[in-house]
Formats: sequence, C-alpha cells, structure tokens
Amino acid sequence: MTKKRILSGMRPTGPLHLGHLLGALNNWTKLQKEHECLFMVADWHALMSEYGDPKSIQDNIVNCVADWISCGIDPKRSAIFVQSQVTEHLELAMVLSDITPLSWLERCPTYKEQLREVKGRDLATYGFLGYPVLQAADIILYKANAVPVGEDQLPHLELTREIVRRFHHLYKKKIFPEPEPILTKTARLLGVDNRKMSKSFDNYIALSDTPEVIRKKVARMITDPARQKKTDPGHPDICNVFSYYNVFKSDLTSKIRKDCTSASIGCTEDKGRLADILIEHLKDIQKRRKKLLEDKAELNKILVDGTERARSIASKTLAEVKKLVGLA
Ligand code: TRP
Repeated sequence: MTKKRILSGMRPTGPLHLGHLLGALNNWTKLQKEHECLFMVADWHALMSEYGDPKSIQDNIVNCVADWISCGIDPKRSAIFVQSQVTEHLELAMVLSDITPLSWLERCPTYKEQLREVKGRDLATYGFLGYPVLQAADIILYKANAVPVGEDQLPHLELTREIVRRFHHLYKKKIFPEPEPILTKTARLLGVDNRKMSKSFDNYIALSDTPEVIRKKVARMITDPARQKKTDPGHPDICNVFSYYNVFKSDLTSKIRKDCTSASIGCTEDKGRLADILIEHLKDIQKRRKKLLEDKAELNKILVDGTERARSIASKTLAEVKKLVGLA
C-alpha cells in the first residue's frame, strides 16, 4: 500500500461517545500505523452552531484531545492540532469561497437537513452556509489524499472534490489531489433510544461516563417490545442490547441468543451484564484520560507540536495558492 496523507476532524461540541469510538477513533488508530495522519479539532466549525453559547468550546477541545489520545491516537505518529491555531485554514477558505457557486452550497443535503432539524439555534447564517467550504479548505490545505468520515459527511467530500476541480480549471494548474473518503466498515451503534447515537438526541454513552451513569443509560435501552414478561421468548435480532453484544463481546452472542430466545434470561439481567462489559471496555481508556487531564502542560505540548507540523504544510500550500490566484 502506498503511504497516503490523511486528514480528519471532529467538532468540539460535546463529550465523545461510543459512536465516535466505533465510527471514527478505532479507524483513525489503525490508519495512523500505515499513513501520515493529521487529526484536527474543528473549533471554527463548532462556533458555526455554538456561537450563541460558546463558553464550553475550550473545555470540549481539551476533553476531545484527551479522548483521542486515550483511545489510541498516538501524538508521536499523528499531528493533533486545533483548526483555529493554524490561520491558513481561514485564508484558504476565503479563496475557495470566491470560487464556489452559491447553488452548490444551497443544495447541499446536510445544510438543508440541519436547517430543518436543528431547533433552538438560528443556522440560517452566512457562516453556516459556508460550512463545507471551510471543510474543503481543511482538507486541501494539507493536500490530503483521503479523509476518514462517516457516511453523513460524504456530500462534503463530494463538494470538496468539485471545488478542487473548479480551482484547477480556473488556475490551469493541478496542485491538489481529489480527496477520497474512507468509510468505516464497523456496524453503526444506535443510541439508547434506537435512534442514531448523537449529542443532540441525548441518547449516547459517553467515553467519560461513570459506571453508575452507564448502568442507568443501559437500563433505559429498548429491547424487544414484544417481550412483555420474562417468560416470553425474545427476538435478539431486533434488540438494541443484543447489537451491542455483537460489537463489544461477540464471543458471547450465541449464548445470549440462546438464553434470550429460550427466555432463560430476562432483559434486566441481560442489561446488567452489558453494562459490566461496557464499563470494563472503557476502564483503560478512562484511566489514560484521567492521567492526561491531570497533566495539562503535556497536553499543551502535544498540541503545540501538532500545530507546528500542520502549519509547516499549510503555509506552503497557501503560498502556492496565493501565487496562483494573483495575491502574491
Ligand atoms: N464536518 C465534520 C463533522 O462534523 C468535521 C470536520 C470539519 C471535518 N473539517 C473536517 C472532517 C475535515 C473531515 C475533514 O464530522
């Protein structure tokens, strides 16, 4: 396999949860072994939706980085940095915003969906419309070949590729790779209410949740609705608790399937066991997380180092772009 340059990012808008671990972090950890990776905390993107109440962004940044590292992102291999610390992102985004037709942004499905679904915040802003433009800048500033993302981000990747083609066409020089998405193969984990696990639905199990909180949340999980009494046989394939076993303790699934379909174990007991498994799974991550958060100087050093690595690439790209567009 040829070594690629990979960039990905997350918005620091709240605690990271099991969905992030399975959907992104485990994949990032693997990718960094083979490729040159840059992982970015997208604080400008967070501000686009949190501008009315931005107080928690700083705390979320620190927690986010601590979560990444405790889940296996190795700051020696990968550059970890905060988007707003590398000012080139905004400069490149400005250039890209000049060449991106408004209609491409207005028809972007993520934009339309968020406008429709996000309540309590006004997202009909100039900044939010440009969300994918800044994301395109994030990616091509590093000439990234590939971007690990969830399926929900595919329209942004496609837009990035379109912007790249337009840039090349306008300035008659191909300087950027068209970035490819890397989709995670693992099954998606649903939240405790059977909807997509998400901060906005308040249905997540956070990587930082205490054992008591995990037990409470697992107890809330929806099982087979047809199983009213403990003596009713259950249907594991439609049970969210069972799908968690599949992901976190697959060697137990055939036993659980038998116990559930023969009604020899009740849902409450089953959930208790799942909670134990999740608590155990998060134990080492939480230990590492705690240690990291106790040493803010070390965390800071990691970010300073990551920022430097990012900036050394970013400044070269921006210089090249400025020259091509006639600003230098
Ligand atoms: N939009 C991404 C998300 O919400 C976060 C992000 C910002 C990103 N810039 C990026 C992801 C660049 C990949 C590459 O998940």
